[in-house]
Amino acid sequence: MKDGIDAILQRSQAEYLEKILPARDPLLASMEQFAREKDHPIADPEVAQLVRVLLRLKRPRHLIEVGTNIGYSVIVMGRELDRTAVLESVELDHKILETARRYVGDASLPCRVVFHEGAATAVLPTLEGPFDFAFIDCVKAEYGQYLDQLLPQLEPGALIVCDNLLWGGQVAQGVHDASTDALREFNRRITSDPRLLTTILPVGDGTGVSVMV
Ligand SMILES: C[S@@+](CC[C@H](N)C(=O)[O-])C[C@H]1O[C@@H](n2cnc3c(N)ncnc32)[C@H](O)[C@@H]1O
Repeated sequence: MKDGIDAILQRSQAEYLEKILPARDPLLASMEQFAREKDHPIADPEVAQLVRVLLRLKRPRHLIEVGTNIGYSVIVMGRELDRTAVLESVELDHKILETARRYVGDASLPCRVVFHEGAATAVLPTLEGPFDFAFIDCVKAEYGQYLDQLLPQLEPGALIVCDNLLWGGQVAQGVHDASTDALREFNRRITSDPRLLTTILPVGDGTGVSVMV
């Protein structure tokens, strides 16, 4: 989630785009409220909408999410999938994962959801691909490591969506700290690696969309 509505876009543009987002159903609306009240960093609704569009186009069968939190994006993605699809999601925090399990249970998704509890860099090498869709939304300084671990498991044509690539505007502003420097290097990498075709969109907090070529 971005820090402020005008962190990436001009305020008037961001407010306009927010106003024309489709209304959320009661479950997602209550999760957004819960996230606001308890300070959970769920995806911005405009990122969720982008992911929906991509899933509708791609129709993936085996998805991996790095960073579950309370399961908001699991529900957004799961609703676009059918009963043959499997969505795996990794979360470090036991208590947060319990909350995610409850919300995802309430959502009665058509697809199968498999949660993994643990540090993403320890869990990812244990998973069995291939995957055809990845959503990376976890520790910013570890994005490069997630990519290294996921690339051998991704099919040609797989989509990789990465949240927070502009990091509240700091990446472009030249701020130096561990997360911002790591994201700058990650952006350089995904936009120059010949195995990936990438665009970084000023959607939400900066959203990367890459295709495995
Ligand atoms: C930005 S949130 C994910 C939001 C979620 N994708 C959504 O949009 O609803 C990142 C999550 O990663 C979890 N996390 C932090 N460090 C982690 C690690 N090393 N391995 C796995 N998960 C981690 C945090 O507890 C947090 O819930």
